[in-house]
Amino acid sequence: MCGIVGYIGVKEATPVLLKGLKKLEYRGYDSAGIAVLGAGGLEVCKSKGALNKLEEKVSALSAQASQTGGASKKPFGGTLGIGHTRWATHGEPSDINSHPHTDISGKIAVVHNGIIENHRKLKEWLAGRGVVFRSETDTEVIAHLINYYYAGELLVAVQAALKRLEGSYALGIICENDRDHIIAVRKESPLVIGRGGGENLIASDVPALLEYTRDVYYLDDREIAVLSKDKVEFYNEEGERVQKTLSHVDWDAGAAEKGGYEHFMLKEINEQPKALTDTLRPRIIPAGGTGAMASSRSVNLAEIGFDKSWAEARRVVLCACGTAWHAAMVGKYAFEYFARIPSDAEIASEYRYRNPIFNPSDIFIIISQSGETADTLAALRLAKKNGGRVIAITNVLGSTLAREADLVMYTWAGPEIAVASTKAFTTQLMCVYLIALQFGLLRGNLDQAGLDHYIEALEKIPTQAEAVLKSKETIQRFASLCFNKSKVFFIGRLFDYAVSLESALKLKEISYTHSEAFAAGELKHGPIALADESTLVTALCTQEALFDKMDSNIKEVKARGASTVVITYDDVHHFDESADTVFRIPRTPDCFTPMLSVIPCQLYAYYCSVLRGNDPDKPRNLAKSVTVE
Ligand code: AGP
Repeated sequence: MCGIVGYIGVKEATPVLLKGLKKLEYRGYDSAGIAVLGAGGLEVCKSKGALNKLEEKVSALSAQASQTGGASKKPFGGTLGIGHTRWATHGEPSDINSHPHTDISGKIAVVHNGIIENHRKLKEWLAGRGVVFRSETDTEVIAHLINYYYAGELLVAVQAALKRLEGSYALGIICENDRDHIIAVRKESPLVIGRGGGENLIASDVPALLEYTRDVYYLDDREIAVLSKDKVEFYNEEGERVQKTLSHVDWDAGAAEKGGYEHFMLKEINEQPKALTDTLRPRIIPAGGTGAMASSRSVNLAEIGFDKSWAEARRVVLCACGTAWHAAMVGKYAFEYFARIPSDAEIASEYRYRNPIFNPSDIFIIISQSGETADTLAALRLAKKNGGRVIAITNVLGSTLAREADLVMYTWAGPEIAVASTKAFTTQLMCVYLIALQFGLLRGNLDQAGLDHYIEALEKIPTQAEAVLKSKETIQRFASLCFNKSKVFFIGRLFDYAVSLESALKLKEISYTHSEAFAAGELKHGPIALADESTLVTALCTQEALFDKMDSNIKEVKARGASTVVITYDDVHHFDESADTVFRIPRTPDCFTPMLSVIPCQLYAYYCSVLRGNDPDKPRNLAKSVTVE
């Protein structure tokens, strides 16, 4: 979604803003712009398309001015400014619709992430007061409203304007008459404040701040921050001062860089062994002591308050969107498998509009890489309102999900920049497996020996993931032979079906191939009508008890001309006859295979994307974090 940056300090703001916007490119955008308070007043430059177009436009304007004017008039030379990458919602991508938007006086500039739901009503109201609108955006009303209420105090005008806004927003606001402040506001769209020495910043996400500071404040909903170069003050919506705690971001700046890889996605696929280790290791307590003092190994889930009271739970509801929903599906099977407890995997964007049945003893597990997905947050709020115990699994410290859930389990995957989620998915799986195992022990469905066996298997997963990654050249070669297939299906049952869904999503989102996943048993109920010579069918076959069933399905599509790929264990030859190609993964208990079998599919999607000439990190029409409905 849109990206916001803002800078106030002693440096020239323009390079800081442009660099910051670069760091937010991963969020997805179609146009960009900056507004800087320079010697000549408020200067705005906006451009449809990639950031380099904006950079070129800014340099051209600067060059023009240096030929005609003196250095004191250097355009975009001020030390206070805001910038924005726009992902069009209201109005097509164009220079005019790009942010920042200014008011009629041209003195107030606003950047916005979110949607102003009552913008039509406000537009009519403002038009009735003589305002002529220049863009088709919902954002422009904000600049005009602030101007309407402005009587010399920017903060007062912003507070008055906010009272009129309905919807979601993160805002950065500057005003030519107030050269000492940036005002930042947040309601349901993320915004972080970076606290530097003699300079302060705002950004939609931490990577844009890391070059300048690792000390951040996470704005809460309906809070306002007033930044000057030496301090930041916070206010609640009643206008009262609020004290906030400074958080320190531990990741080094390199974590959000490509580190020699051609794309973030490839880097993140390769980081999975480490991410899995980092997610698993701190939660395993090794066996210790001897004799009467001996203790068995166990899973430490103190962070989510896992204790005997969980035994009262009658149902687990896992809720998420996209890839995280696929992790929820694996979670559902894992809870049934290990804990024999009824479990549901809900699509958050559906769940929030249903009239779901709540039980006070239900446990809600809400999963989100970003912790900012609007639909997922709405599902969380619904569950909380109905008294559910809400546990968040998220990758982003200080995210809205982390702050609003009762308790949080972090996936220690490190920053995930590529739009296509990879390491977040496998670490989400690691988290749900750990909870399901511990739940199994508590409910008596698993004994200590069983737990030991599964923990041992989990501990091998990072090394096994490493082994799967070693086969990347085989997958690259395979992709080079069939990257232009027009129809790609993934089939599987249970755990393998969840991976099929994830694999089809990965392929469609970055390679734009029409790919679908089917529960293998459903083929005969319709989808097999699509199978012909142009079809590639990838069958996920990692559950021993279902090998024969899967083999029949593979033969059925093959008989209709489809090419077939099978993903199975490295010691299985069950599919040698039916499969045209086999990708192999190391042995692990069948229920854990999703953490390994998804890797060849991620790599396949990545290579198809590159071979089709796409940028896998920035797929068309998609944003990393969907902060609006
Ligand atoms: C993943 O590849 C997708 N880009 C998308 O489905 C994503 O998983 C979904 O939008 C949910 O995001 P979240 O995990 O940040 O909530």
